[in-house]
Amino acid sequence: MKRVITYGTFDLLHKGHINLLRRAKALGDYLIVGVTSEGYDYYRGKLNVKQNLTERIENIRASGLADEIIVEEYEGQKLDDIIKWNIDIFAIGSDWIGRFDYLKEYCQVVYLERTKGISSTELRDQQHPLIRFGVVGSGRIAERFVAESKFVSGVTVEGVYNVHRDSAKEFCIKNELAFYDDDYKTFLNKVNAVYIASPHGSHYSYAKEALMHEKHVLCEKPITLTELQAEELFKLAKEKGLILMEAIKTAYCPGFQRMVSCAKSGKIGSIISVDATFTKLVSPHLRELQNNGEGGSVLELATYPLLAIFKLLGVGYQDIQFVSYKKNPNDVDLFTRIDLVYPGALATARVGLGVKSEGSLVIAGTRGYVYIPAPWWKTEYFELRYENPSETEKNFYKFSGDGLRYEIVEFSNRIALGKMNDNICRLSCEIARILERYRAGDKTTIVM
Ligand code: CTP
Repeated sequence: MKRVITYGTFDLLHKGHINLLRRAKALGDYLIVGVTSEGYDYYRGKLNVKQNLTERIENIRASGLADEIIVEEYEGQKLDDIIKWNIDIFAIGSDWIGRFDYLKEYCQVVYLERTKGISSTELRDQQHPLIRFGVVGSGRIAERFVAESKFVSGVTVEGVYNVHRDSAKEFCIKNELAFYDDDYKTFLNKVNAVYIASPHGSHYSYAKEALMHEKHVLCEKPITLTELQAEELFKLAKEKGLILMEAIKTAYCPGFQRMVSCAKSGKIGSIISVDATFTKLVSPHLRELQNNGEGGSVLELATYPLLAIFKLLGVGYQDIQFVSYKKNPNDVDLFTRIDLVYPGALATARVGLGVKSEGSLVIAGTRGYVYIPAPWWKTEYFELRYENPSETEKNFYKFSGDGLRYEIVEFSNRIALGKMNDNICRLSCEIARILERYRAGDKTTIVM
């Protein structure tokens, strides 16, 4: 009996897949089909798959072409499977020509001609209209956004807006966009979503106007500088059936999400303390350190540690204190400690701009603790540690590129779903509330 194996994601099973499976089956007597798991697809950067694993497996089963279906979960599994299942022929579409020649040592490798004119990517794009982004602002992060958007299907960045026309033009040329504008209304009319990466204080008005013009909004952190403004924007987006999301990449990266679930699963007992630090060395001439009411470590960086604290302990803290070190010609905070007191737990966020420290996240529990080394906001690795060091559990994840692709995928999924995530909207409002209190000098000690 000749045993054949083939692999794929098989999202939205289409005639190209069926043709491939039929020809693969005809190569032998018994066909095994490997279907990629969600985790593996995410790992290899395939972020837009629409159907879950069960649906994709069900579709293959219903085709009647597979004698057996297995799940492909890790890189290198193909070789393990070939040996384990005693495979004679490995078959795959011609888009992979040459890539699996290394398997020829173990079995026959056959590349089957791909069916022209159809793919899961095209079907996904047809099901959901293309998200045509316009970028507001033309700084460093905006540039990273354009680069990262290329990893997400169903999304393009078409144009850029900046009050300074020359700046917009330069960005447009450098990033090969279709247009630039210094008139916001004209700019809005050419796109269906905006990514706001302008100075902090301008987020509110740009986001509001975009929502009023029926555009979805992905807004850099901090979404606004007051809680009321954030609440107003989320309410407006909801009324209009639009998506408004704060661009906190960490919230959507797979490693961080797993770490939060793990910490809350009871494996370290009850969480008693969260310590999150994020520091960055920047040139004193940069925007972040200017005394224009929008500079300093808290406004620039506190969103990340506060996200971790809120995800782990919720937003029901009873008390908050800020201690800031400010000694510099610009009078902005260079290092700030934010202490939050919860019923039965404590949390500390430490942020520094122009002050460097270990950027770790430590979650202390009654049975053990979670340690995430710097840069924990791009979680690739975390450890569960216990009294007995031999019980340490190490977990590895992939964090691709700059990570903005994860928030773009979430934003595009939310548009397809037609619904915002209320919990994360609340979290954005709570962060805005803390920034507002800090700016008002509430509960703040200044060290000069
Ligand atoms: N395939 C094919 N003809 C097509 C599409 C896919 O023969 N028109 C084959 C692929 O070469 C692969 C298998 O079907 O061997 C599973 O491919 P998969 O990546 O799941 O499908 P795609 O449509 O290529 O998906 P995507 O657009 O997401 O890359």
